[in-house]
Amino acid sequence: MSKPTIWISRKLSDNTQTRATRDYDVILNHDDVISGADEIVAMSAKADAILPCHSEIFDAGVVSRLSDRVKIIANHSVGVDHCDLAAFRQRGIVVTNTPDVLSDATAEIAMLLMLGAARRAPEGDELVRSGKWKSWSPSFMVGTQVSGKRIGIIGMGRVGQVMARRCRGFGMEVHYHNRSRLPAQLEHGATYHGTIETLLPVSDFVSLHCPATTATAGLMNAERLALLPKGSIVVNTARGALIVEDDLVAAIRSGHIAAAGLDCFVNEPGGNPEFAHHANIFMLPHIGSATRETRDAMGFRALDNLDAFFAGKEPRDRLV
Ligand code: DGY
Repeated sequence: MSKPTIWISRKLSDNTQTRATRDYDVILNHDDVISGADEIVAMSAKADAILPCHSEIFDAGVVSRLSDRVKIIANHSVGVDHCDLAAFRQRGIVVTNTPDVLSDATAEIAMLLMLGAARRAPEGDELVRSGKWKSWSPSFMVGTQVSGKRIGIIGMGRVGQVMARRCRGFGMEVHYHNRSRLPAQLEHGATYHGTIETLLPVSDFVSLHCPATTATAGLMNAERLALLPKGSIVVNTARGALIVEDDLVAAIRSGHIAAAGLDCFVNEPGGNPEFAHHANIFMLPHIGSATRETRDAMGFRALDNLDAFFAGKEPRDRLV
């Protein structure tokens, strides 16, 4: 029996591509170019399945033009805001994602951003790197301590829960908002807030861990930023769309927000050039899940979903 053909739309980890090539007829993207709508549609006629990343946009227009040959989209991402799930449902195309396996890596980057923003890492690094570090004094590069402070976590799913654990390890008091309250055994003493409006005023730090949906787009806007205590720090490792970037710049400029740590932006790749004028915004290029271990785990989880699908079983991470 011939093997199903899979189009792997980006260059994935060697281990992932080796396993995929062993088990399927695979179309690889050796040059790792990003495919636009027309390329995605054209490739869909050559494959029974697509294994894309969040860089490939499957909006309703693209989904309506996909070849009937494609039966499943096995995403190499936990976030699926690049996929119009309703359109996929209408087409009867299965969609899966890769939850769980990137929670530790993403929470690590959130910690890095929180600590780096609090302790002025971009400024310090630049000072030493540029050879401009000429003096030291007790009032030099003084930042904010995280231990003893309150962290407000928005979105207490898998990543949010790991972040809460890491923050507890740093002696922080954990507050959170989630669509529903966690069972007591998963809260580990964290304080639940039924609304973001009650969470923000008690958050010296706020870290975003919810998906980007029509309901959460622009969640951190001028009004919400104003609810944070003066001098608080904003961390985002989820999706750029959660923050109104102009409002964050205004809050940074006014000094109401002391610093921010951002791994994602409304425009990716590229980011927001306005942020670059502010040394107190610590930025990374969407690398929350970029560890060797997690890249393999994401690739394998996507392949597990394909294996189940082509074996006639229910893929573990089926969304549609
Ligand atoms: C995810 O899995 O959603 C990460 O942002 C990487 O795509």
